[in-house]
Amino acid sequence: VSDLISELQTIVGDGHVLTAADLRAGYETDWTGRWQGESVAVVRPADTGEVSAVLRACASRRVAVVTQGGNTGLVGGATPAGPPPAIVLSMRRLDSIGDADPALMQLPCGAGVTLARLQQAAADAGLQAGLDLAARDSATVGGLAACNAGGLQAIRYGTARRRIAGLEAVLADGGVVSKMSGLAKDNAGYDLASLLIGSEGTLAVITRVLWSMVPRFADRALALVAVDSAAAAVAGARALLPRLPSLELLELIDEPSLRISLEYLAGSPPVPITPAWLLVGCASTGDAQEELAAALVESGLDERTVVAVDATRRQRLLSIRESVTEAIASAGVPHKLDVGVPLATLESFLDELPAVVGAAAPGARTFVYGHLGDGNLHVNLLGPAPDDESADEAVLELAARSGGTITAEHGVGRHKPQYLSLVRSDAEIAAMRAIKRALDPEGVLNPGVILA
Ligand code: MLT
Ligand code: ZN
Repeated sequence: VSDLISELQTIVGDGHVLTAADLRAGYETDWTGRWQGESVAVVRPADTGEVSAVLRACASRRVAVVTQGGNTGLVGGATPAGPPPAIVLSMRRLDSIGDADPALMQLPCGAGVTLARLQQAAADAGLQAGLDLAARDSATVGGLAACNAGGLQAIRYGTARRRIAGLEAVLADGGVVSKMSGLAKDNAGYDLASLLIGSEGTLAVITRVLWSMVPRFADRALALVAVDSAAAAVAGARALLPRLPSLELLELIDEPSLRISLEYLAGSPPVPITPAWLLVGCASTGDAQEELAAALVESGLDERTVVAVDATRRQRLLSIRESVTEAIASAGVPHKLDVGVPLATLESFLDELPAVVGAAAPGARTFVYGHLGDGNLHVNLLGPAPDDESADEAVLELAARSGGTITAEHGVGRHKPQYLSLVRSDAEIAAMRAIKRALDPEGVLNPGVILA
């Protein structure tokens, strides 16, 4: 290992190879505190050439490479999981933003550019990024691509895969693959860029991304609606979806989630506390407030409702939803389950959930919130020990039984390889293994993630 360290120092410079335990610590634990690992060094390359040289140095010694962006992932996908030795490859220094093409609405970004900077650059070009999530100040473009991030606006603009027009990446052997031309149509062989999106650092290291922005819809309105049951929330979502072309977000906050968030924010409830709140956002070229109001009336959701139009009041409502994550984390180490369930079976999923959790983890506190419009709910549990998987397994089985998925946006990481067969067939997992073997024959890229 010591000759690896000196080679890495030659590649990226002494100051960018962190070997002291206190300097590595922040990179070796995830945001929730549930996932930890150990590395021989944190390596901070500056550009694609350095990434390539680092991968060659590690592959030749069979040292694992765990790629990390803003370290905001929630499934342990960026903390070392496999047997040592491993390095953490921090991508934050690849943070340059290129020139926007306003006609094609494309923006080249280094993998280490934060989502907040991407959003600002898009706004400077008179456009918007078309992707938003609460970790925007830390989450990086490379991480969004590697995890096919979803977030609050996926209902309108899709997940990261739809927002990425191409990318550049380094393979395990140091080879560079690139599709940064921005061509809307290019069918020359397998679409490697699309394969690498969502591959969670297991097939290549993404170094640059050609981001596909969306037009700016300047007129916005946001409603918070109190409803009496999960059933009413699902029925409300189903009524709104076809009636509101300007819909930009459609979120659910259940009563435990809204209570813990209000407590965390020391805020008072803007609508009566009921079993569930819906957050409905519109962004329009016309009159967002009018469109939202009409759809709420047609959907029977206009009582016990507040509507915010100006940015400050919208932000205040949105913060109740966005702060749920931090509020729960401040109360303990959460088990975070990011299920996707079709709207058609979501009501029965929510009906069964308390009994399923109660049987697997008696006394656990359950919080349900998330992207209702996408059928993507975040089930968070407080109580079970970090290594106690019984409730996780029970909830993921329920999601699979409901025709859903074990992860709608956070990915498989090191948490869920054991559950992959709940939603992927033997043939599908065999195909994934074949791809992994072909692109990473020594198994150095993020071992233990996605495939056990
Ligand atoms: C969110 O939607 O807030 C994020 O996915 C984070 C979380 O699941 O808590
Ligand atoms: Zn989410």
